[in-house]
Amino acid sequence: MNIIFNKKSLPVCDAHVIFVYSNSRLSDSAAKIDKATGGLVKRAVKVGHFAGKFGQTIDLVAPENLEINRVLIVGLGDETELDLLRAQKIGGKIMAKLISSGDEQISIAVDAPKKSNISDAEFSAHLGLGIRLRRYRFDKYFTKQEESKKPSVIGVSIMSAAAAAANKLFDNLNKVADGVEFARDLVTEPGNIIYPESYVEKIRELSSLGVDVEVLDEDDMEDLGMGSLLGVGQGSACESHMVIMHWYGSKNDDEPPVAFIGKGVTFDTGGISLKPGSGMEDMKFDMGGSAAVVGAMKALAGRKAKVNAIGVVGLVENMPSSTAQRPGDVVTSMSGQTIEIINTDAEGRLVLADALWYTQDRFQPKVMIDLATLTGAIMVALGQEYAGIFSNNDDLSEKLTEAGSQVDEPVWRMPMGKAYDKHINSKIADMKNMGGKYAGSIAAAQFLQRFVNDVPWVHIDMAGTAWKTEASDISDRGATGYGVRLLDQLVSNNYED
Ligand code: BES
Ligand code: MN
Ligand code: ZN
Repeated sequence: MNIIFNKKSLPVCDAHVIFVYSNSRLSDSAAKIDKATGGLVKRAVKVGHFAGKFGQTIDLVAPENLEINRVLIVGLGDETELDLLRAQKIGGKIMAKLISSGDEQISIAVDAPKKSNISDAEFSAHLGLGIRLRRYRFDKYFTKQEESKKPSVIGVSIMSAAAAAANKLFDNLNKVADGVEFARDLVTEPGNIIYPESYVEKIRELSSLGVDVEVLDEDDMEDLGMGSLLGVGQGSACESHMVIMHWYGSKNDDEPPVAFIGKGVTFDTGGISLKPGSGMEDMKFDMGGSAAVVGAMKALAGRKAKVNAIGVVGLVENMPSSTAQRPGDVVTSMSGQTIEIINTDAEGRLVLADALWYTQDRFQPKVMIDLATLTGAIMVALGQEYAGIFSNNDDLSEKLTEAGSQVDEPVWRMPMGKAYDKHINSKIADMKNMGGKYAGSIAAAQFLQRFVNDVPWVHIDMAGTAWKTEASDISDRGATGYGVRLLDQLVSNNYED
């Protein structure tokens, strides 16, 4: 699908979108169409009891004298309440409405929202972002999809007096959307398509954007002493890998990087502590944290962010087999600390332990942020609305919370502390890989913290937000691409030259 920005003119298109504010107040463009149609818009608003509430729509057949097939009237609500997120949401709502309508070309008439804090260009660009994100579909495995169910929209023209400025803003947003879509694809692909080896090849595609992609195989990781990560993959026929992505966009090569670390369990059966069968298919999304990291690196490189950033992902498959690790096994991590495996299904933390240690040891990053679909318990606590964050640093937590609210990928900080840390003391080794019945997400975070020294660090448990059973305004149901925009916003707020 192509999105372009144009100066105003009455377009030739299948569907023309016009906006109406609350109390049925027509935007200038809506008034223009009303005039051209002999009062059709005003009549529709009246007869349709259309108040102009945010997201409300009326669909009209256009009269023959216009080069338009139909007019979609869309409510924008209170003009003073318009902001970037609302612009994205309204774009998404328009796309949800038209995606399989049969219409191919859409035009959208934007007037400067004079009474709000955002400009015409911002409104237009963010509208475009919402349109693109909502248009995403993963339908490659349908071989017999009905024509009427396929997305029909191929071109969107956003008409705005600030077209040039909108286009410039959109360029960057569009690169971020590339990262989001890449992450969604990776998360949606099943475990027989994305496994550690094939995942590595997908990540290598980032080289074309100037990202340096470095790959460790099992021998390399053995040499480094990564017994914690390797133990998770040892029951799988797939070789485990760690991938290190380097994006050095800052003017200063010596500037310490920000580092993102992702859990990439390409499929989580639970291992010998096998999960129940029902719903196990969902565990293809257990690499969602790593997909967020890969997508964010793609976004940063795509928009040539002036930042030094490192992405590290641990790619393993957690399988039961005669070579799989057992409950009771003791493994030695790269840090030298030993771990008693109580439950082979608490594997994400084992992967991250070595990835965190390696990242901090090798890069001395400014900050470390790890992302993982780590615990079912975080969904019990926060549902699918918020991701949980755990941190040793108030400032970084606040920065992340701010970024999250800006892009509507919200995070909620959870407590940590000595009392929780005790939950993972072991009778035979330095620690065990799970605590007791309660506070499972916090026990997991305490485990990770044992592999973090003084560097400011946040752990994001995104088990509830990586995959949604319902569509949102800017995401179809399924993989959300959660984390890509969050990390990108964090960087653009705080870490660019
Ligand atoms: N990948 C799961 C967590 C998960 C569960 C993510 C459901 C999304 C949906 C993780 O590896 C896991 O199995 N965690 C266990 C930990 C327990 C054994 C301590 C869990 O949450 O049950
Ligand atoms: Mn598991
Ligand atoms: Zn897992």
